[in-house]
Amino acid sequence: MSQNITDVLMVGATGSIGQLAVRAAQRHGLRPRALVRDVRQAEQLLPGVELVQGDLERPASLRRAVGGADAIVFTHGSGGDARPDARAHVDYGGVRNILQALDGARPRVALMTSIYATRSDIPGATPWKRRSERLLRAGGLPYTIIRPGWFDIAGPTQRRLVLEQGGTADGGISRDQIAETLVRSLLTGTALGKTFELIAAEGEEPSDWAELFGVLKSDESGSVDGVLDPADLPIEDEPRRVRADLESVRFLRGTSG
Ligand SMILES: NC(=O)c1ccc[n+]([C@@H]2O[C@H](COP(=O)([O-])OP(=O)(O)OC[C@H]3O[C@@H](n4cnc5c(N)ncnc54)[C@H](OP(=O)(O)O)[C@@H]3O)[C@@H](O)[C@H]2O)c1
Repeated sequence: MSQNITDVLMVGATGSIGQLAVRAAQRHGLRPRALVRDVRQAEQLLPGVELVQGDLERPASLRRAVGGADAIVFTHGSGGDARPDARAHVDYGGVRNILQALDGARPRVALMTSIYATRSDIPGATPWKRRSERLLRAGGLPYTIIRPGWFDIAGPTQRRLVLEQGGTADGGISRDQIAETLVRSLLTGTALGKTFELIAAEGEEPSDWAELFGVLKSDESGSVDGVLDPADLPIEDEPRRVRADLESVRFLRGTSG
């Protein structure tokens, strides 16, 4: 079942996917509110869009941003950040800090992570996006987690969306279709509680979003992993602070009315 959604906090709104997600939200009659670090720069990129200043690494700056949001779309990323621990601080820490700022509110969430999020066999892979997904599942909010394929690979005739589960998908997808899928997931009941990889193949755009999401398996209730995810990152082997973060968001679940 879909919640009534009007106000949507867009995290990463100035990014290459975030800007398109803001436009997609507007197209669907939603009221996007963009979380931005630099208001002046954002005014140029997102004219006419409500802006709220905040930094994902500064938890106190996030409370105002999340207030009253019916939904949250996460498209943030640490791509331009050269710090070796940027993924932990931004990709993962940003999700943790937003969840902790919610103060009992239960917005619908669409989280963009990445293809290969569970692939520990890929050189240079880190588990931070997977860990951010785990926080969201543990937090008990209504969610959809979308792991898009490579942004700049799909050609103009590759518009048929292919949704896969289990972490082995590979392929590209255009940025506008990622943005559209994130927003559609908020508005489509059959996307609730699901995690999937998203790529595009030769063919037409989807017309029946309920069916597209509906054929997917739901994540198992109580599990921190996506359905069919490999069981190669046991919680008990996780760093102490990661386990503590999971406990903190589970606690929020317990206290949210
Ligand atoms: N490239 C691919 O093919 C591919 C495929 C799948 C998934 N991905 C994932 O997609 C993400 C990149 O998406 P994109 O191209 O849209 O990213 P992007 O253009 O680099 O945008 C990143 C967004 O995150 C925001 N951000 C970063 N640190 C922040 C902080 N501390 N507080 C608030 N906002 C912050 C940025 O805000 P500012 O404007 O203030 O910097 C910006 O809005 C990456 O995480 C990547 O792993 C990429």
